[in-house]
Amino acid sequence: MLEPDKNRLLTQVGPGTPMGDLMRRYWHPIAAMAEFDETPVKAVRLMGEDLTVYRDLSGTYGLIDRHCPHRRADLSYGFVEKCGLRCNYHGWAFDETGQCIEQPFEQMVDAKSDYHSRIKIKAYKAQAQAGLVWAYMGPEPAPLLPNWELFNYPNSFTQIVFCEVPCNWFQGQENSIDPVHFEWMHDNWSVRLKGKTGPYAPAHTKIDFEEFEYGIQYKRIRQGSDETSPLWTIGRVCLWPNALFTGNHFEWRVPIDDETTMSVAWFFSRVPQDREPYVQTRIPYWYSWIKDPKTGRWVDNYIMNQDFVAWIGQGTVSDRWNEHLGRSDRGIIMMRKRFLADLEAMQQGEDPKGIIRDPDANKNVMLPIAARKVLTEGLTREDISAGRDGMTGLSRPDFVWLVGQPDDVKRDYREAMGF
Ligand code: FES
Ligand SMILES: [Fe+2]
Repeated sequence: MLEPDKNRLLTQVGPGTPMGDLMRRYWHPIAAMAEFDETPVKAVRLMGEDLTVYRDLSGTYGLIDRHCPHRRADLSYGFVEKCGLRCNYHGWAFDETGQCIEQPFEQMVDAKSDYHSRIKIKAYKAQAQAGLVWAYMGPEPAPLLPNWELFNYPNSFTQIVFCEVPCNWFQGQENSIDPVHFEWMHDNWSVRLKGKTGPYAPAHTKIDFEEFEYGIQYKRIRQGSDETSPLWTIGRVCLWPNALFTGNHFEWRVPIDDETTMSVAWFFSRVPQDREPYVQTRIPYWYSWIKDPKTGRWVDNYIMNQDFVAWIGQGTVSDRWNEHLGRSDRGIIMMRKRFLADLEAMQQGEDPKGIIRDPDANKNVMLPIAARKVLTEGLTREDISAGRDGMTGLSRPDFVWLVGQPDDVKRDYREAMGF
């Protein structure tokens, strides 16, 4: 259990909070690049700050304050220019550093006016990578935006799925280091949801956790498998500071504020060998949802939706002083301890865990990936048809992770994968 003050310390991420300072030291995915093809300006709320993200006509991304410093109009209704964003109320324009670069009427009546040079609004770094737009809200110098190896694998169909979840992000991240829930929440609950009472899935017999540079690997053995299983030798990754990496997809739990989380998931599907070379010109994105309109209950028949049921069920911010941890929770304890230690380290001027500053190290950052060979070399058509996909899910024609995949994404996926 955690005392209420430690619980607050680990969960609160607003400006000026210790954990807010820590989380601001990392890049966070906040939107899909493809969103800006349709609407180049978007309102976002990030760690309790209301902001506007845009892509200007030169292709530069900016992340600036939500409100215009003139008379506080909503900049997410502004329009983009060759450089920067212009407020739709009286036309003041701002670049990606937050500098006001134009005040049309002020400059009309006084050509020498330098009033604009004295106006600067809040601005953070925004950068595109892997179909996502990322934000950095911490102090300079900014670390590098991690270039995970999966972002560089060719021949993939990738899709990005967002879902707003009404609870604190830390519950989501604790779910990233919780092997045993898979057996109950995903396997056995799904059996019961189908109206059956069994047979249940193989039970976990042993779990282990190992910290490495970018997170904590978690490992498991289930009945019927042994220490040669890739789920034991490599396992999966609680990726620092707020993601799960399963080996072929990422799930980031991005704090909107202390009570709301944006789940951002990035799914990689290696096309079969007979579809090579496959080049995806635009990474599609879509928004999932959590409530079943028919029943009024949370959607429960997709894997990540099941996870959301757990997160939300723990309360808006879980009252961890009422929990009773067991031996299945060793990873959770490791994660909390690491965050608490990093909060102290930051006070000594050190970087928290997993920050990348060396450009050479960031050329292609390797992660523990059980199915690296399958994902890089691809599978034959015969292997896919026979379901021999090495636990990558590549032989599944349907999207099992979140509810609501649009028909065009489903169609493009099936076409890419040759189903
Ligand atoms: S309120 Fe934005 S220009 Fe006037
Ligand atoms: Fe899960």
